[in-house]
This record gives sequence, C-alpha cells and structure tokens, in this order.
Amino acid sequence: MKNILFLSALTALSLASCKQNPEQKQPSQIVDLNKQPTIEKSSFGKTKDGQSLDLYTLKNVAGMTVTITNYGGTIVSWTAPDRNGKYEDITLGCDSISGYEKGVPYFGSIVGRYGNRIAKGKFSLEGKTYTLATNNGANHLHGGIKGFDKVVWNAMIVESPQPTLKLTYVSKDMEEGYPGNLSVEVIYTLLKDNSLKIEYSATTDKTTVVNLTNHAYFNLTGDMNNTILDHEIALNCDKFLPVDKTLIPTGELKSVEGTPFDFLTSQKIGARINDTLNEQIKFGGGYDHAWILKGQNTEGAMRSAAIVYEPKSGRAMEVLTTEPAIQFYTGNFLDGTIKGKGGVIYKKRSGFCLETEHYPDSPNQSKFPTTTLKPNQTYSTTTIYRFSVAK
Ligand code: BGC
Repeated sequence: MKNILFLSALTALSLASCKQNPEQKQPSQIVDLNKQPTIEKSSFGKTKDGQSLDLYTLKNVAGMTVTITNYGGTIVSWTAPDRNGKYEDITLGCDSISGYEKGVPYFGSIVGRYGNRIAKGKFSLEGKTYTLATNNGANHLHGGIKGFDKVVWNAMIVESPQPTLKLTYVSKDMEEGYPGNLSVEVIYTLLKDNSLKIEYSATTDKTTVVNLTNHAYFNLTGDMNNTILDHEIALNCDKFLPVDKTLIPTGELKSVEGTPFDFLTSQKIGARINDTLNEQIKFGGGYDHAWILKGQNTEGAMRSAAIVYEPKSGRAMEVLTTEPAIQFYTGNFLDGTIKGKGGVIYKKRSGFCLETEHYPDSPNQSKFPTTTLKPNQTYSTTTIYRFSVAK
C-alpha cells in the first residue's frame, strides 16, 4: 500500500504543479541535431602544496552542465533547468580551491574510505582491532582527517557517446587507519536525460571496509539565499536508523510510521523538522539519519530511493541507487560561517544531501549488511541523480 503511495509521488508532483501554474510554458524539448555533448578541461588552480588541479565541464545536449575537479572528485557546480528552461546552479560549493582547502563540510565531494560514522573510530576485522583517525568528537566521520574528499584524484576523460570522467585513487595501507591498499575508481557520466550517473568500484589487497558516496548539497531553487524547507521530498523507505546523541546508530531499524521520519508520501522538508519533542530530531538538529530502502536489496539492482520537488522553480530530482540506504541530511550544521559560490553565505538549511550508502557504523554492527571487502572481491555500486521539470 505504502509502496503505491510512494510511486504515486511523481504523479502527485506533476498534478500539484499543473494546478499551480496552468499557463506556464514548458522548456522546449527540441534537440538541436548539430549540438554534441561535450567535456572540456580547464585549470582549477593549485593546492596549497603546489599540486595542479583541473576542472572538467561535462555538458549534455539538453544543456545541463556538471563541473568536477580532481580535488576530492568534487562536483563544483551543476546546472539544471527550471520550468521556464532557465539553467541555474543547484549545488553548494566554492568558487576556487582555496575555499575547499579552508575546510568545508564535504560540498559535492566523494566521501571515503567510509561514508558516515564509525563509533569511536574503532572496529575489528578478522580478529584485529583497527584504530581510525577521529574527527567528529570521539567518532570517525567520512574517512577521517584526510578522507577521499581532500586528496587529488587521477582524472581521465573516457571516450564515450556521453560525457564521461573517470577518477582513480589508490588509498595506501593504513591511510587514516584502514587496512589494505585500496584502488578506487569513480566514473561520472552525464546522460542525455539530465541524469548524472556515478559508478563506484574498488579492490583491496587486504580485508578492509568500504562505503563510498557523494556528498553534494542541493538547493533546487537555484538561489542559495533560500532555505530548502519548502522543498517536498518522498523517500522510498519504511524504516530508518535511530541514533544516539553522537549520531551513531543504536542498531534498531525503526518503522517510520507515525513519526516525522515518514516520507513515504511527499512532505515539505520543513513540515516536521523542528519537532524537537521527537528525540531523534533533537539529536540530529533536524534530519541527519540513514533511511533503509523498501524491499529486497538485490545486488546490482537499482531502486528509486528519493524524489524531491521544488515548487517555485518546478525542478524535480529523483535518486536511484543500488545501495541499501540513503542518508538524508538537511544542512543542520551550516551556521553562516561559510561564504560559498558568488559570495553567498551558507546558513543553516541552505542545502540538503542525499547520500546513498551502506549503513553508518556497519563495521561495529553485525546485524547490518556487511561493508567488508576482501582481496578477491570487487566493491561496485551505482547511483543516479535524475532531474526533470514538473509541469
Ligand atoms: C553527516 C552529518 C555531517 C555532514 C557534513 C553528513 O553525512 O551525517 O552529521 O555533519 O555529513 O559533514
């Protein structure tokens, strides 16, 4: 029943917006046959320690652009059309490398070796205890002090009908405390239907743990002076992971029913976000939790995880993934101290993240799906962010 409600969310979105803007014109769907998808390389300056960086601009025939730097594999900007065909940047980020190097909370970057938290920065594997860098109170967050978001990746333009960028990085044995040399590959492909496909893969020479994701912050209004509270979101998830006050999952898989965590039907992000009578909202300072996708997690099968709709612009985004969970984070820790692109101050709830992943703290929670990777195995996951315009 609830599944039907979720599936109807897209229809509901288009119906709702039809009512709101009956005379609004749709962007032209005519494709100029002379236009070709492109990928261009330019300079993104140098890191503090003198490493040259590049910026790759992927452009599809429809006109969507995604710029990606090899610093952290970071999505620096991403333009999407509104209902009038106007393309605007819908992600948070910095104008230059110095902004990223000052330390921003993972804007648009690849997160690894382990996305989200590992309790007290410790876990045991094959009888050995490993101690990781702790960078979030007593816990380890998003790969540690120098995670995959702060390293320079190798980048390669791949010859393909769609603009495709391949990034590779070798994370050394014991980097940030993790065992095994891990060879990681992340492939970004911009598809003609305004989808960005991200394919992650990794192999190791010693048993380790891996959980890769992308940490793009979205604001579909295209103006980061707005908060994201009026965006409407549906999550295809009937359970979520409650956390303790340090945001480590308690181990329970809790039903969303009757809680502010129920997004099986589309709801405004802001509708229940300040319900601090709910302990979980209080601990997160809003939403900062992993939701578990409904149904069976069959390896390699893509499922729709989330649909977001922004009523003013008409922009909608769907997230599809092979991962079993999605971290929905509502920018609760943005506090007005970061000046982002174009000098805009990013305040609390200027952006939201939908990070597809395995469950946080899985290395310490035997009942969670495993995040262990052995030398004879290949880690492989895919996530798609697909944009559309509601009529
Ligand atoms: C985490 C938040 C954290 C944010 C930025 C999210 O994935 O769940 O707690 O503040 O990333 O680091």
